[in-house]
Amino acid sequence: SPAKMQARPAAAALSPPPVSTTIPNKSKRTAQDYIFGKVIGDGCYSTVFLAKDIHTGKEYAIKVCEKRHIIKEKKGEYIKREKEALNMLSNVPKGFVRLYCTFQDAERLYFVLSYAKNGELLPYINKVGSFELDVAKYYAAELVLALEKMHSKGIIHRDLKPENILLDENMHLQIADFGTVKILDPEVIRTIPEANIEDNSQSTERERRRNMSFVGTAQYVSPELLRHREDTRASDLWALGCIIYQMISGLPPFRGPNEFLTFQKILKLDYEFPEGFPADAKDLVEKLLILDHTKRLGVEDKGETYESIRKHPFFNGIDWDTVLEQSPPTIN
Ligand code: ADE
Repeated sequence: SPAKMQARPAAAALSPPPVSTTIPNKSKRTAQDYIFGKVIGDGCYSTVFLAKDIHTGKEYAIKVCEKRHIIKEKKGEYIKREKEALNMLSNVPKGFVRLYCTFQDAERLYFVLSYAKNGELLPYINKVGSFELDVAKYYAAELVLALEKMHSKGIIHRDLKPENILLDENMHLQIADFGTVKILDPEVIRTIPEANIEDNSQSTERERRRNMSFVGTAQYVSPELLRHREDTRASDLWALGCIIYQMISGLPPFRGPNEFLTFQKILKLDYEFPEGFPADAKDLVEKLLILDHTKRLGVEDKGETYESIRKHPFFNGIDWDTVLEQSPPTIN
């Protein structure tokens, strides 16, 4: 309209338009907006690069997936769920790797994630052998808080392990790798279990590994995921039990010479506590590592917090309201 055409030059005369390179525009980003550095993570269908935003100099972890590979391996559904879960958690300020944006080109998909500067929790456990009790207690508490937030949104991780727990620049924990999540329908608390897991004892190692990518990593997988592929928040509580055990003793509770024998141990609850394992920690782990997932500590809790876990004597001294604002105790 003539009115609009008159308004424009007047407004432009007040201040010249900004140079596009100084103000990041809102349009879709591309790989050219970043300088790609070293590989910082590797999955079965993705590679994570450290990358720098050329406009701001800020560092990100960019997860790159090759489309051809995703189509061939039929992982499209997993990528969609990963993005959905990350978006659902994007307004949660702490405890999770954050998704800033996504884009694609002809060959690849890109997820721009927060860069957790201190990497995985696993090498820290392996380096010191086992955590001091206050350190184990602190990180267990951060993990409980993260699980509360995730589970209250209906997100089950299904592959929690010290490789998927990252540490930011302040040594606070960030859960990563949502490629295995199950997002529960808000109406249906427990979804209909999928088809029974294949009898893996007959299949090749390669096939077994491919099937396992559905259910998570051998040492942390829950008995109900192994037996029935049942989707329940309690599977993440099982993994919590395994991780607490590992932070204190140095090794995960269920260890076999191969995946099949590890599964056998899980299904028989065949594990032991090393001598000197603290009594409160032992009691908590025993209440999480229960074969019947409906009997695990926390599953009966109502509301958005795991009150029965928070109240367990292992966590005596933890101030649940301020844990995330505290500086984590030093690992040594
Ligand atoms: N490895 C995989 N994802 C990562 C992230 N967001 N930060 C650091 N290392 C990672």
